[in-house]
Amino acid sequence: MAPYWNENWGNPSSRQNRNGIRASAAVSFAREQLAEFLNIAPQRLIFTSGATEANNLALIGHARAKAIEIGKPGHLITIATEHHAVLDPLRQLQKEGFRLTELLPDSDGLITKDQLINSFKKDTLLVSIMTANNEIGVLQPLQELSSLCKEKGIAIHSDAAQALGQIDLQPDLLGVDFMSISSHKLYGPKGIGALILKSDLPILPLQWGGGQESGLRPGTIPVPLVVGFVKAVELAKKDLTSRQKRCRFLRDRFWQGLNDQRPDLILNGSKLKRLPNNLNFSIPGISGSRLHTELRPYISCTSGSACSRGEPSHVLLALGRSLTEAEASLRISIGRSTTSKEVDQAIDIIIKAINKLS
Ligand SMILES: Cc1ncc(COP(=O)(O)O)c(C=O)c1O
Repeated sequence: MAPYWNENWGNPSSRQNRNGIRASAAVSFAREQLAEFLNIAPQRLIFTSGATEANNLALIGHARAKAIEIGKPGHLITIATEHHAVLDPLRQLQKEGFRLTELLPDSDGLITKDQLINSFKKDTLLVSIMTANNEIGVLQPLQELSSLCKEKGIAIHSDAAQALGQIDLQPDLLGVDFMSISSHKLYGPKGIGALILKSDLPILPLQWGGGQESGLRPGTIPVPLVVGFVKAVELAKKDLTSRQKRCRFLRDRFWQGLNDQRPDLILNGSKLKRLPNNLNFSIPGISGSRLHTELRPYISCTSGSACSRGEPSHVLLALGRSLTEAEASLRISIGRSTTSKEVDQAIDIIIKAINKLS
């Protein structure tokens, strides 16, 4: 990223000067590289400020365009465990006259084909189902669900912010029409992401201006962020298989180590159909706030999403956890630099804290 903050500071939309041409070439090259990693055509990528903006653009942009085409708002479907960056734009559309079904997943966090089939209405126009959950890491059966949507001619969007860099993400293999991705989930810079779209589906912009990104996301393109984002994807792609293996090993060791000493812990989300780096569990019978106070000096972990505004996790509540259990929960991610020694230390620290509070 460094050269694009300093010597190559040109505006990629100013192609009458050399600086601008260099910046424009860097963006084009990054777009082509990212498209190649995702196995799609480069023109299907719209750079945004992150997954939140990509979700808003896909959901609101497509729903409004369809409502104009049909002459009235229609029906939308999502799952209750989505990130707020999906739930809130859909609830905004509800205020504009659309109807919304929020499907409740099974206790393992997954939804079934039958649930989706049973929720289709005559005027369903858009379904949004995340690829991987940000709190419990579960991977929805997206391929099966998107083929159901295709049969009915319903568009399907997927928030893949947590999946990029953790699985081999190919939007066309998953069969989705819109997909949102973000850079900071895979060690890239914050403030950049993208919407992947299909050219034959109507979509309206949410803002207007200089016409950048095919008019769907006007505004000067942040060249260093685009370059950094794509570099992060390249690095994640390079060691994907070995990192998945390492993370899965450490994550399973973590869970086994905790569970051996405290069999009363409740694993949140499917054990098998989840991201290799995610662990999430609830501890019955203790106070969540006291647990987090105990752990804070030693371990960096959370009970929910950074975007949950401090409320108990709506994801864990949807799985059937009580309010107290949802608060007394830990979401732990294994990172690139996490070692076996750190995992073993963390097991000790967590068990001591739980035993102290029980
Ligand atoms: C599943 C999911 N969607 C959306 C977001 C928001 O992404 P961004 O911060 O890029 O807007 C996040 C992370 O915060 C996330 O985990």
